[in-house]
Amino acid sequence: MTENKQNNIMDYETVDFDPVTCELLLIDQTLLPNETKIIRLSNAKDIWDAIYLLKVRGAPAIGVAAAIGIYVLAARIKASDFEEFYAEFSRQKEYLDSSRPTAVNLSWALNRMDQTCIAHKELPLPELLEELKKEALAIKKEDTLVCKMIGEYGLSLVKPGDGILTHCNAGQLATSKYGTATAPIYLGHEKGYNFRVFADETRPLLQGARLTAYELHSAGVDVTLLCDNMCAMVMKNRWINAVFVGCDRVAANGDTANKIGTSVVATVAKHYNVPFYVCAPTSTIDMSLEHGNLIPIEERKPEEITKMWYEKPMAPEGIKAFNPAFDVTDHSLITAIVTEFGIARAPYKEAFEEIFRKKETEKK
Ligand code: MRU
Repeated sequence: MTENKQNNIMDYETVDFDPVTCELLLIDQTLLPNETKIIRLSNAKDIWDAIYLLKVRGAPAIGVAAAIGIYVLAARIKASDFEEFYAEFSRQKEYLDSSRPTAVNLSWALNRMDQTCIAHKELPLPELLEELKKEALAIKKEDTLVCKMIGEYGLSLVKPGDGILTHCNAGQLATSKYGTATAPIYLGHEKGYNFRVFADETRPLLQGARLTAYELHSAGVDVTLLCDNMCAMVMKNRWINAVFVGCDRVAANGDTANKIGTSVVATVAKHYNVPFYVCAPTSTIDMSLEHGNLIPIEERKPEEITKMWYEKPMAPEGIKAFNPAFDVTDHSLITAIVTEFGIARAPYKEAFEEIFRKKETEKK
């Protein structure tokens, strides 16, 4: 647990658990890069708000926060038997699950906690709570390992000196460590690959500027910040050898939801023949959805576009604004999807089935 001020954002835990006070700890990402503040949460409304308001964000980090969060809530349930406990646990779980719709890691992590609850229903409640705590901490630990494996597979797709473009923040701040899209960059950096990274600022919430540029720069990576409308120019200039992005949900056919604007980058990359890689933990692959049109896309408040970052409103009062938080990149624009169990290429459904078979085998 890291709460004291560190020198470098890379030394902080994005999501953590305080075993003494039984609280969820988060870096409040809405304040970055200007202020590094750790917030402590122990009630359902505060945890729901932290996810909705993007104090914690990025699909894997949301999953880890939800797992620790539901444990923190479960530990405070007053119940005399399992039925009473489970009724309240399920209510809290449904509530947290309603905080954001697109990143499937949220319900994936909550379902894992739910399964743990049911699997240990015969235990006395204090022992059941121990099992829930173990599961939440395992989800966090696994996330670090998953990101590292994605990084190693991703690194095999690039070479020293390459120019890499990324969109939004699929970095350490979006995961337990390394990030997904940034994992090949961090592992390559450790090996002296000297990548030149280009980070899209990512309107309207500026995750690329406030978070990706910040964390890469803090880690000593050569990073250049771009406005979202510049990717065609840098690709035309031949500065970009590969694009790496994260994802919030991947459908069975490989269609991928990620931060709004990702599909623009993918379309431009196809035009300029730049490989476009999606980094996806298997927890983000939703085989129950046949294609990307079935992925629920979060729509957020217009004020995030018109006012939020400006001293004065930057649009006429009362203007209509469309603010989808994610878009879906068609699988035909994706060169490959990098998972912790290997690199999937089209046809994706078959490739994912193979990856899930490998995951099952390695579990045994
Ligand atoms: O709205 P956000 O900031 O949660 O969106 C995050 C992204 O789109 C990330 O690219 C995605 O969650 C992958 S994070 C490893």
